[in-house]
Amino acid sequence: TDVTFVLGTRPEIIKLAPVVQACHRLEVDYSIVHTGQHYSDSLDSVFFDQLELPEPDYDLGVGSSSHGEQTGEMLIGVERALAETAPEVVLVQGDTNSVLAGALAASKMDAELGHVEAGLRSFDRSMPEETNRVIADHVSDHLFAPTEQSKKYLLDEGLSERRITVTGNTVVDALFRNREIARRKSTVLADLRIENRDFFVMTAHRQENVDDEARFRDLLAGVERAAEAHDADVIYPVHPRARDRIETFGIEVPDPIRAVEPLEYLDFLRLASTAELILTDSGGVQEEACILGTPCVTMRDNTERPETIDVGANRLSSCDPGQIVASATEMLLRGDDWENPFGDGDAAERILQSLPLETKSREVAR
Ligand code: UD1
Ligand code: UDP
Repeated sequence: TDVTFVLGTRPEIIKLAPVVQACHRLEVDYSIVHTGQHYSDSLDSVFFDQLELPEPDYDLGVGSSSHGEQTGEMLIGVERALAETAPEVVLVQGDTNSVLAGALAASKMDAELGHVEAGLRSFDRSMPEETNRVIADHVSDHLFAPTEQSKKYLLDEGLSERRITVTGNTVVDALFRNREIARRKSTVLADLRIENRDFFVMTAHRQENVDDEARFRDLLAGVERAAEAHDADVIYPVHPRARDRIETFGIEVPDPIRAVEPLEYLDFLRLASTAELILTDSGGVQEEACILGTPCVTMRDNTERPETIDVGANRLSSCDPGQIVASATEMLLRGDDWENPFGDGDAAERILQSLPLETKSREVAR
């Protein structure tokens, strides 16, 4: 095929979906290799259905294990699959272990490698994601930076300007395509009985937050106090990693926080666009809050999405309860008239247009 997508987790499925759709529009032949890093329906097949993606051509079924074991198994499987699909270009997106394996495998094969969402940096090497994104960027032939800021980070590391294209983030493409559908179709507000209530949405799944019992308890205490201060319910779709930690640590989720199953994309978009406030440690959710005009508090010490802070849409609170409460109050008082820094929703087409595909030259010649 012309392009092989290597993906494996919820955010990659969501953010590569617009590029897959663009392949249809531009008549680019493609295949999909799914590492199986995420396999629960609620993190995986739900998104293939809602985003109208075809079944993956390969499902490596790697599943959960330690970083080394998981990445190693994916590396073996991806290399075998790419030997069969023999693509001109391999595309990976983001910063997960699936991206690391896809990038390493492709970089040593006879295919060019493109990294979608290149150049994000938290400058915190204790995060597994930071290691993954730095390595993926340095072995890629095509760096699709979502913003000028991410391009600058890449240049600062000595990567050649010729490899970099500023495209916007494909999260905007996905959101623009689905926001209106979510408004029409999603019944999530009625289902959760919050139609006329003030409510917050929270997500928390980051390894450094939920695997550390004291930090996770602090985070929940902070959200509880913020909710009580503003008389709001909090809807918390619980990622399986966090669910597992809640059970292991014997944590009781405090009352104003309603723990629910992970939501489908349209339901999540509907909630996120209606909420008074979002509290999160997710990367994609910081971007979506900013694009949707919903104020955001990021319960981390740093962010690789500084654009959201610069435009005034987001604030870092760490996991300290007092700081979470103060940040929530500050963000609720702030207006929501910031500019979306992540592009115009045409990132996917820009990415495909800048690839050296024979198909594309055929298109142009016609
Ligand atoms: C991974 C990414 C993270 C990303 C997140 C998106 C890495 C290092 N981390 O974290 O950057 O933000 O995906 O959601 O790649 N589990 C299930 N079902 C699943 C998948 C996982 O129950 O389908 C549970 C298992 O208990 C597993 C745990 O979640 O041990 C963690 O899964 P893993 O894929 O290792 O990391 P995530 O926390 O999902
Ligand atoms: N999301 C979803 N349902 C949920 C929570 C999140 O569909 O219950 C979507 C959300 O819209 C965003 C993506 O999942 O696009 C973010 O994924 P996640 O937080 O797992 O990963 P990260 O972006 O932090 O890598």
